[in-house]
This record gives sequence, structure tokens and C-alpha cells, in this order.
Amino acid sequence: MATSVRIVGLGGSLRAASTSRGALQVVLDGAAASGAEVQLFWARNVNLPLYNSDDEVPTVAHDFAETVYACDAMVWSTPNYHGSVSGSFKNALDWLILLADRDPPYLSNKPIGLVTTAGGTHGLQAINSMDFIARALRGWSVPLVMPVAQSWRAFDASGQLTDEAVAAQLRALGEEVARAARQFKTDGTCDYAQDLPYIPDKGKL
Ligand SMILES: Cc1cc2nc3c(=O)[nH]c(=O)nc-3n(C[C@H](O)[C@H](O)[C@H](O)COP(=O)(O)O)c2cc1C
Repeated sequence: MATSVRIVGLGGSLRAASTSRGALQVVLDGAAASGAEVQLFWARNVNLPLYNSDDEVPTVAHDFAETVYACDAMVWSTPNYHGSVSGSFKNALDWLILLADRDPPYLSNKPIGLVTTAGGTHGLQAINSMDFIARALRGWSVPLVMPVAQSWRAFDASGQLTDEAVAAQLRALGEEVARAARQFKTDGTCDYAQDLPYIPDKGKL
């Protein structure tokens, strides 16, 4: 029997008819079809306050960080905003500072599938931004990525995907994230050696 894995999706648009959320759902459907347990966090529904280290940690942020820490893999999906990720998407990830002192810290040993929808033709900008964030959080971005450029072509006005070719690629990404999660879980750690000089000291972050 295949190793059971839990995958958490994070959608970073606040729009009701969000295309990046629609794309994320299809990726999670692909992961679920290959046997993964999936859970979706959508910035519109989660209502995470803006991160501020002066404030007490709200329950919603605590629960979000704990759910992420307990999962085996993630799928991130953001709209491309001004050549990068949306503010609400980044804010959700900023709350993962709550996982800085864990052992292992942050998203160690978790593969992350990256998805974006863009109005123009430069979807890779947000993918590359997410790749930097994934590495900062000690995660492993999956080499297969899904930038959906000119999103208005592939989605209807309610944010539902209508392009079957794009849907097949998104489902394939979901399967790939689930496969990578199983491999990490089965083979154990694949993390950096802790004494390498380019790994910043946790206490100095
Ligand atoms: C504030 C803002 C900035 C945007 N910047 C870009 C951009 O730099 N490049 C681009 O291709 N599309 C840009 N867009 C278009 C969105 O990426 C596109 O509409 C996307 O599909 C929206 O995702 P959503 O449906 O999940 O909200 C921008 C949209 C907004 C609202």
C-alpha cells in the first residue's frame, strides 16, 4: 500500500472568483486522486491578520502554522502581482516564523508545488519569487512548476478552469507533489547538513 501523505494547499488571492484558487483546487484534486489527503487554506477564508511580532499570536495563525508543520508537502498558488506574489500570500507565509525554532525548522523535508496565474505573459516571475521563499523556509520546490499566463483564457468569470490541457498539467503537478512527499516520508531526511557554512544560524534570523 502507498505511504499516506497529507498535503496543504495555500491560495493567496482574496478575490471570490480567484483563478489561482481555482488552479490550486485542480492540483489538490490531482494529489487526492493519487491517494493523498488534502487540505486547502485560502487567504480569503483564513483571515490571517498582518504579521506583527509585537502582537500576541492569534489562534488562527497558530492553527495555520501547526497544520502546515504537521503536513508532508504543500502546494502554493498565488496571483502574479507586480511581478511577484500577492501581499496576502506573503503575509500567510510570514506567519510561518512561528516554526523557526522547531527541530527541524520551518518546512524542512517538505516538497512544495508552485502555481501562479498571471494576467500577462510573465507567470514565471511569481514562480521564481516563491522559489526564493521556499528555500528560505527550508522547503524543496518541486521542479515541475505551473505558471498559467493570460489566465483570462483558461478560466471562466467565476474562477473555474475551462482549459482541459492546463487542467491535465495541474493534476500532474498534484501527483508529482504527492510522489515527492511519499519519497521524503519513506526515505527520511534529505535536509542540508547542519554544519554547512551557508546555512544561517537560527538564532540570528
Ligand atoms: C495588484 C495587481 C497586480 C498585478 N500585476 C500583474 C503583473 O505584474 N503581471 C501580470 O501578468 N499580471 C498581473 N496582474 C493580473 C493578475 O496576475 C491576474 O489577473 C491573476 O490571474 C489574478 O489571480 P486571481 O484570479 O487568483 O486573483 C495583477 C493584478 C493585480 C490586481
